[in-house]
Amino acid sequence: MNLNRNDQCWCGSGKKYKKCHIELDEKLDSLRAKGFHIPPRKLIKNKEQIEGIKESAKINNAVLDLVQEKIKIGMSTEEIDKIVHDFTVNSGAIPAPLNYGGFPKSVCVSINDVVCHGIPSNDTILQEGDIVNVDVSTIYNGYYSDASRMFMIGNVAEEDRKLVRVAKECLEKGFEAVRPWGFLGDIGAVIQEHAEVNGFSVVRSFGGHGVGLEFHEDPFVAHYGKKGEGMVLVPGMVFTIEPMINQGDYEVFVDEDDDWTVFTEDGGYSAQWEYTVLVTEEGAEIIAK
Ligand code: MF3
Ligand code: CO
Repeated sequence: MNLNRNDQCWCGSGKKYKKCHIELDEKLDSLRAKGFHIPPRKLIKNKEQIEGIKESAKINNAVLDLVQEKIKIGMSTEEIDKIVHDFTVNSGAIPAPLNYGGFPKSVCVSINDVVCHGIPSNDTILQEGDIVNVDVSTIYNGYYSDASRMFMIGNVAEEDRKLVRVAKECLEKGFEAVRPWGFLGDIGAVIQEHAEVNGFSVVRSFGGHGVGLEFHEDPFVAHYGKKGEGMVLVPGMVFTIEPMINQGDYEVFVDEDDDWTVFTEDGGYSAQWEYTVLVTEEGAEIIAK
């Protein structure tokens, strides 16, 4: 797309190109020419889109707050699904997981050695000592948001509490590594370092993702890697950071019967926390948590 300085900007702001994205585009072009991996334009959200994603995230955050208030020992994961579904729909929103690629429920609930994509069921009851990930994703007015939290049921073993704590620290450190004109690899590097010094491993075959106009957009956000590598982080990018941290090895497998539930290969427990984050001119912002 070759725009003149006085044309309307491509982003839809209605402003002239020279008063809007021209400076950013010139910077991106020069970085691209130097061989850096630059995000395509569609991954850079404009003001209106960012506002839309934030509205979606408000509902998503409220759903997780409600789950946090209600979750308790003896509850089935089906009951969590109902809480999420009903609150989301009553807010005028849509639970993004429902029917996504055939996923049958409104939320993912992943317990102990389930890494992610656990399907709520009447037969799965929260038990003393469980560590539980509840992963909530919302579509509101066409905009997507995505976040997850861990919950500990009753008395949880010390080593499992440590896993939950370190996974949260991994997410926080990953978020702190987000800065404009930094790299995706900066995020993965700090997460991998923190997980491994604590004796844990980082799941490789699943990761974070761009989000906002669709549920899963580019880029793939690896939770391992090297500082200074991968895509350049540009203001306006919105993506998730959602490290899955394992007590044992990082290998996982998908349940052959339901084609969704992801388990650790070795049966060790896995913990995950997720934010949706926005890269800003100054740094970064947590949108959904
Ligand atoms: N919420 C998950 C994520 O963080 C995706 C779940 S896909 C589903 O990316 F279909 F299982 F919901
Ligand atoms: Co996600």
